[in-house]
Amino acid sequence: MERKTFITLILSAVFSSSACVPRQYHFVNKKLTWTEAQRNCREDYTDLATINNKNDIEELLKSVNDDQIQHVWIGLQKTVSYKWKWSLGDPAFYTGNNSQYRNWVQGKPNGDGDCSNMNPGEWNDNTCANILPFICYSDSSKGYIPVHQNMTWRDAQNYCRKYHTDLVSVRNQTENQQIEKIRNDAHITDGVWIGLFRDSWEWSDQSDSSFRNWMTNKPDNYGGNENCAVVGVKSDHGQWDDWECDIKTQFVCHEDKLVLVKQNLSWNEALKYCRENHVDLVSVHSEQIQRRVMNVARKAFTAEVWLGLRHSCTLGIWFWVNGEILCYQNWAAGHGTGVENCSDAVRVGAVQSGGDQRWVSLPQTDKLNFICTSYGE
Ligand SMILES: *[C@@H]1O[C@H](CO)[C@@H](O)[C@H](O)[C@H]1NC(C)=O
Ligand SMILES: *[C@@H]1O[C@H](CO)[C@@H](O)[C@H](O)[C@H]1NC(C)=O
Ligand SMILES: *[C@@H]1O[C@H](CO)[C@@H](O)[C@H](O)[C@H]1NC(C)=O
Ligand SMILES: *[C@@H]1O[C@H](CO)[C@@H](O)[C@H](O)[C@H]1NC(C)=O
Repeated sequence: MERKTFITLILSAVFSSSACVPRQYHFVNKKLTWTEAQRNCREDYTDLATINNKNDIEELLKSVNDDQIQHVWIGLQKTVSYKWKWSLGDPAFYTGNNSQYRNWVQGKPNGDGDCSNMNPGEWNDNTCANILPFICYSDSSKGYIPVHQNMTWRDAQNYCRKYHTDLVSVRNQTENQQIEKIRNDAHITDGVWIGLFRDSWEWSDQSDSSFRNWMTNKPDNYGGNENCAVVGVKSDHGQWDDWECDIKTQFVCHEDKLVLVKQNLSWNEALKYCRENHVDLVSVHSEQIQRRVMNVARKAFTAEVWLGLRHSCTLGIWFWVNGEILCYQNWAAGHGTGVENCSDAVRVGAVQSGGDQRWVSLPQTDKLNFICTSYGE
């Protein structure tokens, strides 16, 4: 408990404050399939719950205020993409794209396994069930801890999470050299597990979080059709299981807050501002969110307020910056539905701050107030 509080303090001190504010979770005491639950969350809140770290798990468990509940859906679902990611999966730990730093041996990864080891300094993909020594990372000391015991990747992960923070992440060449030196100084002659693993699970809200907290021997895809994730609330202490998506169970949504920024910036500057200081420019994928956006936009100093809405001349479509295409639409007459002028600056979308508050198409160079999404208080 004490260690967790400490890590939370460190995280909030080191990283931009908003990225570390715990999410606001909402437990919904209705039994629905995963897809129905997703729709329900997107209508009433932001999306099915995303989990970034152990602290989020505690918050999520606290939100489930009914002793009878055993399992709740969260936003994690199996997809066709099959990507490498770090065990220390909190997006707040990374800046720019340094979560994408790799130092594979030439010709690797070559399908040898879904976990990775370092030896010496360069990385190999390897079968997760192999046993190797490993290196943990401690957030409190910002240090690397070599562990001279042979374990499977998952056991090593559990060990690091229990005694330190997680298996080590490597964000650039400098860190890679530091970790290699630790391996060498500890006289470990074999490869060591690092935190890089591969899976095909993704969050419903497109979040980058690679944090996973599966029960032992899960996900096992029992029966071949277990593509959605539940959190075991009661006896499982917040560990996760894979289930068939059409089972009906209760679920937890999360709600991102909307923040009106009263600065006059171009759309590109506004996007950068939101991503650096909050989460993103707001995407309005339902009438419920439009209503919340209207409330916030009314307080703006400019006649229109940027949304995370952008036109692609190449594809001839409008899309949300979170990657979704437009289903719900609320364009003003003469906007958004015709052909855009592609010889002009890139066209982007804003919501009117007054009147009936519909969406308009504007050149990205206009300077407007804007609305960011942020995690809940
Ligand atoms: C780990 O396994 C390797 C290879 O089997 C062995 O050489 C080494 O002594 C083991 N290390 C420990 C600490 O058990
Ligand atoms: C490597 O990453 C760490 C953590 O982000 C950072 O403090 C350090 O300055 C980086 N070093 C280089 C050379 O990029
Ligand atoms: C932003 O633009 C609005 C409308 O043009 C203007 O009234 C306001 O003073 C501007 N604010 C700043 C800080 O420049
Ligand atoms: C498109 O934008 C360009 C550049 O601003 C302008 O010269 C042109 O007249 C516009 N075309 C139409 C059809 O509005």
